[in-house]
Amino acid sequence: KNKKISIAIDGPAAAGKSTVAKIVAGKLGYVYVDTGAMYRAITYKILKMKIDIKEESLLRQLLSETNIELKPATNGQIILLDGKDVTNEIREAEVTNTVSSIAALGIVREEMVLRQQQMGQDGGIVMDGRDIGTHVLPHAELKIFLLASVEIRAQRRHLENVQKGFPSDLVKLKEEIALRDKQDTEREISPLRKAENAVEIDTSNLSIDEVADEILALAMERMEEV
Ligand code: CDP
Ligand code: CDP
Repeated sequence: KNKKISIAIDGPAAAGKSTVAKIVAGKLGYVYVDTGAMYRAITYKILKMKIDIKEESLLRQLLSETNIELKPATNGQIILLDGKDVTNEIREAEVTNTVSSIAALGIVREEMVLRQQQMGQDGGIVMDGRDIGTHVLPHAELKIFLLASVEIRAQRRHLENVQKGFPSDLVKLKEEIALRDKQDTEREISPLRKAENAVEIDTSNLSIDEVADEILALAMERMEEV
């Protein structure tokens, strides 16, 4: 009883994946892996080093030389890129607007998926992203697909920005989120979609705690089953 399971949480941008995944992982004493942060970190490095992504061998070398660490912290998670804290930098607009095109590259995905599967190999993990249930952890005992309308998702991000004192434009946010969703859904390799056996939760009218509780209840059920 109480075998450590794997929980995959997928869904479009700002559906509440990372917020809820952190809570669920905390309550279960599991490791939380934010795979979006990994794609953001590599995007940040590519932009910073002005790497031409059409140069496949350069890109491969860059990937093999890049160290990305996700470290738990009191207020969530710290992202270390080659030992340097880039937690805030990877949320900047330039990265946000570029990440989906970098994440569509086969070379990049192969490497990231491999690393994510290594992190998840012992279970006791909550991983969020776009292709976790379909591709990274296809055998996860619990798969969740979070949804909310684009209006609500943009409003949530906007509120989050305002609270943090960041500049924020609701109309632009909505456009950015819709474009990223389109790119993530329409790409050829591991596009964003709900895994066949995933439980869909529309969070539009749910609080963070309501979503977390629903996932925790499902997790308890699955633990009994294994
Ligand atoms: O938090 P937010 O919804 O803004 O996005 P994120 O989870 O940080 O992911 C940023 C981008 O990384 C997504 O828009 C996808 O293009 C890409 N991504 C992906 O392709 N596969 C994943 N498993 C996670 C993220
Ligand atoms: O990780 P993802 O991009 O899917 O979304 P997030 O960053 O976890 O959540 C986006 C924002 O929505 C955060 O500010 C959350 O606090 C908020 N949220 C909410 O208001 N209600 C929910 N049921 C879930 C998230």
